[in-house]
Amino acid sequence: MALLIVNQELCTKCGTCSESCAVGVIGMASEGPQMLVPEACNACGHCVAVCPNAALDHEKAPLKNQKPLPRFPVLDPETAADFIRSRRSIRNYEDVAVPRELIRQLLEIARFAPSGYNSQGLSYLAIDNKDLLRKIAAVTIDWLDELVKTGLPWAQRFAGLVEVYRNTGKDVILRDAPCLIVATAPADFVMGQDSARFALEYVELYATSFSLGTCWAGFVQMCAGANYQPLLELLKLTEGIAVLGTMIVGYPKHICKRLVDRNPLELRWVD
Ligand SMILES: Cc1cc2nc3c(=O)[nH]c(=O)nc-3n(C[C@H](O)[C@H](O)[C@H](O)COP(=O)(O)O)c2cc1C
Repeated sequence: MALLIVNQELCTKCGTCSESCAVGVIGMASEGPQMLVPEACNACGHCVAVCPNAALDHEKAPLKNQKPLPRFPVLDPETAADFIRSRRSIRNYEDVAVPRELIRQLLEIARFAPSGYNSQGLSYLAIDNKDLLRKIAAVTIDWLDELVKTGLPWAQRFAGLVEVYRNTGKDVILRDAPCLIVATAPADFVMGQDSARFALEYVELYATSFSLGTCWAGFVQMCAGANYQPLLELLKLTEGIAVLGTMIVGYPKHICKRLVDRNPLELRWVD
């Protein structure tokens, strides 16, 4: 199968595919679109998706795997704005497990987040074993405690968190959430960090539609990023694989009844 297959009966040579190509590798010849530099194609699938006549197929972004989109935009602006703003960081959870199938569905959507050069390349760990979650919180606190004791300035503001954990056992790291998602990629994957941020943000947003809450577990990520062995051992990370994002998921104990405001927009047009 060639990378790009043109159905000559359906193709009107309108050039939409060529115009939409992310990396400019589709040219228009007299017989229709042509893949000029196959090795530079990033398989984003735009060419197939925009064709008004379904005249294109692509080996790495097959037409049969593309879901028809009957309406665009999918949400009206007010619904979309409320949807986005209703995502909040949840730090109190019901003691209810999240079905593994739901976690899988959240991560399925994460696959559609943008990634540099469509590199994608993330994989995930999911942990719902309560005992393991408690151990992960405990070793993360140990790591944070060590930093606090070294006198590192930024760590000082979290001394109180460590104290609360030590004195009360309150899980200030994973918030007793029933599930932790860990985004990983090979340590030398240069676009991994950004991609993981976007992918997990898709998870956060999509989770709200299942009445699920989420929160970035930033301390766990920093702890893993610092190569803290007790944590890496608990995560059973393969050699050369880095933790690029960590997020807790569960059913919120409290639901926000209001959408908060934020700092006013700062915008300057430059011309
Ligand atoms: C990269 C990142 C790491 C974060 N880590 C933590 C964390 O470790 N613990 C926590 O309670 N919140 C964490 N947060 C959540 C922020 O505190 C939160 O997004 C911010 O206060 C705004 O509140 P909102 O998300 O409810 O709108 C993190 C957020 C980001 C983006």
